[in-house]
Amino acid sequence: MADKQPESKLSAPASEKGEASATAGATVQHSEPPAATPAPAPATAEAEPTATTGESSAPPQAGTAATTTSVTATVTALPPEHWTEAPAGDSDDDGDSALGEDALSSTASISSTILKYRTIHGRTFHSEIGNATYWGTNDERHSESLDVLHHLFTLCLDGEIYAAPVKDPKKALDIGTGTGIWAMDFADKWPGCEVIGTDISPIQPTWVPPNLKFEIDDCTQPWTFEAGSFDYVHIRYLQGCIADWYAFFREAYKALAPGGWLESHEASPNVFSDDDTLPPTSAIAQWGPLFVDGGKAIGRSFTIVDEDIQRKAMEEAGFVDIQEKLIKVPSGGWPADPKQREIGIFAQHAIETDVEGFILFMTTVLGWSREQVTVYIAHLRRELRSLKHHVCYWQKVVWGRKPETA
Ligand SMILES: C[S@@+](CC[C@H](N)C(=O)[O-])C[C@H]1O[C@@H](n2cnc3c(N)ncnc32)[C@H](O)[C@@H]1O
Repeated sequence: MADKQPESKLSAPASEKGEASATAGATVQHSEPPAATPAPAPATAEAEPTATTGESSAPPQAGTAATTTSVTATVTALPPEHWTEAPAGDSDDDGDSALGEDALSSTASISSTILKYRTIHGRTFHSEIGNATYWGTNDERHSESLDVLHHLFTLCLDGEIYAAPVKDPKKALDIGTGTGIWAMDFADKWPGCEVIGTDISPIQPTWVPPNLKFEIDDCTQPWTFEAGSFDYVHIRYLQGCIADWYAFFREAYKALAPGGWLESHEASPNVFSDDDTLPPTSAIAQWGPLFVDGGKAIGRSFTIVDEDIQRKAMEEAGFVDIQEKLIKVPSGGWPADPKQREIGIFAQHAIETDVEGFILFMTTVLGWSREQVTVYIAHLRRELRSLKHHVCYWQKVVWGRKPETA
């Protein structure tokens, strides 16, 4: 075990925070309507996905699909006043809780500014450094959510922490490592591999495997890692953080050695039910438009899965042997299948651990008042706990190899 502090690779502040106005009332519409998977079944069924909130095609089923195109969601955002004007007991709560510098370089030495967090309504966010804009809080409460999400991602991969055919890696990189929980698991699994986890917030633990180190680095600036030096680059859950995914994956391509793998995990914020149990005006259904509209406002998309950006950006960067796994994730303990139920319980638990930390930044960008946020959260919690809404969302893992000849 080593006592390590994150090293900083960040440069001088050059904030570009989103200040755009709300787009409430916009219709979130994506192309290529998906095909629903039928009735409750094991998580391994293959399907063309459907994600059209409020449109029923078949009873819900969560699981994986080996191939996919894109995901469609059509929900109109309600104005924030909706929540404070709606009767408090509007949601169908039956009390049945499920569970409960500059653009040239990204390198600089650590600065105390990194620890000077921005604050919104008492919750802290990353410092105003580099070109980074991250929508989640960076305090302990949110870290707890991220760790629950890590468990959820792992359950969705049948206990694995990656999908690419990684063999005896010597050097690996985890971009936007968060609490570093994935990087620690990976470093434990491959003790002979030098693992680096980067983030804009120094929220990683001090005691970590000896082959792991954390660095403070804004991944939206040109990467300063030695070209061709990594065997594996892992990127998970950076939706809403990246303005240009094509440039982002080009940096990963450069950093990888020939034959090295890039792996990207993302989730759609758009939720749906396959059995008409999710009215578009429900607080749960409004989760998607909130992030989609907020993402547009800050110039960082949340529709990475919906628009198949992972594959497209990998193809354009030059990756080959690209494969993907589309996973239909239930939220809540409603599925009959025990494995899906477990996944659903953890999906709900991850959100419920810190709903505020997930939505505070985006709702603020969209002009919501504190009261509107609070009331919305109350509605959301009630709906989630009712288990009446058979909520699902899409998660996608895409991995590709840098050609041996590159
Ligand atoms: C939703 S969390 C995911 C954490 C981790 N990848 C996981 O799956 O457990 C997103 C993380 O990306 C980090 N992040 C956001 N923008 C970033 C940037 N420009 N450069 C590096 N990290 C960034 C955030 O600070 C946060 O820790």
